[in-house]
Amino acid sequence: MTALSSVAVVGLGYIGLPTAVSLATGGLEVIGVDVNAGIVERVNRGETPFAEPDLSVAVSGAVAMGRLRAQQEMPQADAYVIAVPTPFAGDHQADLSYVTAAAEAVAGVLRGGEVIVLESTAPPGTTRRVSELIAARRPDLHLPHVPDVPPDVHVAHCPERVLPGRIMIEIATNDRVIGGLTPACAARAVELYRTFCHGELIVTDAASAEMVKLAENAYRDVNIAFANELSLICQRLGLDVWEIRQMANHHPRVDILRPGPGVGGHCVAVDPWFIVAAAPDLARLTATARAVNDHMPAHTAEQIVATSRRFRDPRIACLGLAFKADVGDMRESPAVDITARVAAALPEVKIHVAEPHAPGLPGRLGEFGNVVLTDAEHAIADSDVIALLVDHSCFRAVKKTQLAGKVVYDTRGMWA
Ligand SMILES: NC(=O)c1ccc[n+]([C@@H]2O[C@H](COP(=O)([O-])OP(=O)(O)OC[C@H]3O[C@@H](n4cnc5c(N)ncnc54)[C@H](O)[C@@H]3O)[C@@H](O)[C@H]2O)c1
Repeated sequence: MTALSSVAVVGLGYIGLPTAVSLATGGLEVIGVDVNAGIVERVNRGETPFAEPDLSVAVSGAVAMGRLRAQQEMPQADAYVIAVPTPFAGDHQADLSYVTAAAEAVAGVLRGGEVIVLESTAPPGTTRRVSELIAARRPDLHLPHVPDVPPDVHVAHCPERVLPGRIMIEIATNDRVIGGLTPACAARAVELYRTFCHGELIVTDAASAEMVKLAENAYRDVNIAFANELSLICQRLGLDVWEIRQMANHHPRVDILRPGPGVGGHCVAVDPWFIVAAAPDLARLTATARAVNDHMPAHTAEQIVATSRRFRDPRIACLGLAFKADVGDMRESPAVDITARVAAALPEVKIHVAEPHAPGLPGRLGEFGNVVLTDAEHAIADSDVIALLVDHSCFRAVKKTQLAGKVVYDTRGMWA
């Protein structure tokens, strides 16, 4: 088996681009592939299409050194890393159309001897499906899902578990689970990841690796749902959930997470559905946790609207739009959902929005004439009702005197 020297990373998003640049830094020739011409152009100019600490300097360096380039066409390479989106469709079933398109494009250029790694989070069985898809397109090649025939191409799954905001550090240091369709497939993928990953590389089969990733996010979702449910119960009973949580967590084996306005982002709010879809009759807790967390934005918006109606001419500040603290990513963000619900319920009320990590309002909020983007200081000063929706570190600097005389709805317990 020859050493790997070139790799195509398919999908240059939040995961693919950091992976591409890390592989380039690890010494490989990297070709980034994306269907989006704008992203390809930006990467080739040494720019990043989204903000992530340390990514920009790494991309400009790798492009300048000739180790990373981007293009729309699928190239021939020794290895392929597929990092395309895996959203769910309306019925909460995984939408694997991006994975299918990427796999078919890779199939068209294979020569034999390559390793293909699916990084996209996917339901159990998807890596095998990738192998089957390629086999259907390339009857001249042996793929590893067929037993007892030495494969011409290796196929594996290596899910990603980086934290946005720390991607460039964690991509190099986190432990990784690598699941091969065969042990030889896993070994070939280990060879690829060893070039830049200094964490432990844990080897398993592909379906187990797929399930590990889903289990990680479902675990987070279920535990957040418990905290959210507790906050609703405490609210009804007139108890302070933050105090209850703090006291309960003195128990040496209890660690209740912080409640909040809901769960967003591309992972925790999405991946548990893949478990539910795989075993709907068994995944009762997982499905209920999703329902609890999905209900939180509507509940939070109702509370803000009800509080605001107590004022004759209310003005509202919504602090934070991102799906989590200290990032600008607004995908599936409960804060955006809450702000939109409040703006729709109170069309005559001005909503001041402060999101220091984003350059502008997301499209969904741009439609409302009563939503204006400003900074936190002005938003607070000009409002009667202050809704803290995201616990960005900068909001910690808000002084008690700034909030005096206002109704504060602190969904993250930051000022509790
Ligand atoms: N963002 C995260 O923090 C994170 C963490 C762990 C796992 N994941 C998983 O990683 C995968 C990618 O997520 P992301 O956040 O990087 O998505 P993203 O939307 O940021 O990027 C995906 C990129 O793929 C491109 N693309 C789509 N179809 C393509 C195709 N056929 N060929 C080439 N390019 C194509 C898109 O243009 C886009 O640039 C998903 O499965 C996601 O669940 C994401």
